[in-house]
Amino acid sequence: MDTLDSEPDTIYDILGVGFGPSNLALAIAIEEHNADAPAGERLTAVFLERQPAFGWHRGMLIDDATMQVSFLKDLVTMRNPASDYSFLCYLRERGRLVDFLNQKTLFPLRAEFHDYFEWAAARVRHLARYSAEVVAVEPVTDEHGETRWFDVVSRDPEAPGRTTVRRARNICVAVGLEPHLPPGTVLTDRVWHNSELVPRVAGLSASGAKVRRALVLGAGQSAAEAVDYLHRTFTDAEVCAVFAKYGYTPADDSPFANRIFDPEAVDLYFASPPEVKRSLYDYHRGTNYSVVDMDLIEALYATTYREKVHGRERLRMLNVSRIRDVSSVGDHLEVTVEFLPTGERTVLTADLLVHATGYRPQDIGTLLGETAKLCLRDEEDAVRVGRDHRVALPPEVSAGLYLQGGTEHTHGLTSTLLSTTAVRAGEIRDSLLTHRRLTRQSHPQVFAAR
Ligand code: FDA
Repeated sequence: MDTLDSEPDTIYDILGVGFGPSNLALAIAIEEHNADAPAGERLTAVFLERQPAFGWHRGMLIDDATMQVSFLKDLVTMRNPASDYSFLCYLRERGRLVDFLNQKTLFPLRAEFHDYFEWAAARVRHLARYSAEVVAVEPVTDEHGETRWFDVVSRDPEAPGRTTVRRARNICVAVGLEPHLPPGTVLTDRVWHNSELVPRVAGLSASGAKVRRALVLGAGQSAAEAVDYLHRTFTDAEVCAVFAKYGYTPADDSPFANRIFDPEAVDLYFASPPEVKRSLYDYHRGTNYSVVDMDLIEALYATTYREKVHGRERLRMLNVSRIRDVSSVGDHLEVTVEFLPTGERTVLTADLLVHATGYRPQDIGTLLGETAKLCLRDEEDAVRVGRDHRVALPPEVSAGLYLQGGTEHTHGLTSTLLSTTAVRAGEIRDSLLTHRRLTRQSHPQVFAAR
């Protein structure tokens, strides 16, 4: 039987949809504001997360994978270097501050940064609701025709019949990216997206199943990491990287190009005409998309060469190639790979195939339903978003909708990354406070009654 819970007496100032690093940073920004603010100036907040506990790309927590962003671009430092939610404070609490410094690196292990995120999330645990998947966001209109709130409906993925409704003056959607697969791909226990890599490999290893050949489709960072990980894990298996390029493209992390991730670059990008935005995006997409860290490219090349010298070639680059067909035969796969220059097709017998074919922003239209229809759009039908990350809504809507992620068209390449997370969280918090001040001026009776 379906049941419905609600929190009728609470109207949150801000309700976050998703509790990954973006909304975690916002929760901390609000917590830090509330710590210093007098009672009437505090913001009430709640964050809904569909996972049962905090988790950041758990399926790609490969033991030796490192962050691709400086630890100084953590959840707070770029906004508030004195914050005690910083990565350095985390290290001090874990007793590793000096040991970390001796490594002389800006790039911690991915697993270590995950632990940092978990540590920070535990400190704002009172603001989070886990196992709460948002399934609808409904605008609520008062008797004067003004849309002042959103009702956010969530359910526990493990008990989908039970839904909960919470009301908020503002919502901040930060639902991240979802795995992208080539059309027609059928996932099985032998065909995965790389987002499941680590637990799937662990399961396969534990089952004792023999892996003689593994294929990885893709030429980005995740693909190269998957190739390296499978090659190290299944020490008797042949690992084939399949991609259409000739070779992996190195990530551009040079200092001038890296400035595209500065907060000032977001200002500049936001203010630019569409054609300049497009060219900036195209010039600098090589800082993030379909590229691989140079160290990893060199390590993979060294492996192929070493194996050539020793006469046992387990790591194979099937470049300028595409997968044309995959079929399951018994407990293995038959994968047809086409070498593009000649059209020659080879059928490879494989034990597993990993699609490292990228991620795409979630479609917020599906998530927001009726609320999505309120969003004003530009000439290219993209959602109009202000510099403060607030979506443009019709004048009769005073409730606020903020986006973190899904805003590359307005805020540039940092939109889906961690680089400006801390600063963006501060911008959203300040915008919430500004709008509340304006509402208090325009609706003094509403606040007098509270
Ligand atoms: P993120 O995807 O992290 O979080 C969104 C959350 O929303 C998830 O927890 C999800 O469960 C939840 N959610 C989704 N739908 C929901 C719903 N309907 N209801 C409730 N909850 C919902 N970037 C970078 O700058 N440096 C780096 O080193 C890396 N490294 C990296 C490694 C790997 C393997 C990947 C895949 C990506 C990166 N990235 C990165 C990019 C990455 O997008 C970025 O690090 C953050 O994950 C962005 O944080 P968000 O909180 O915006 O999304």
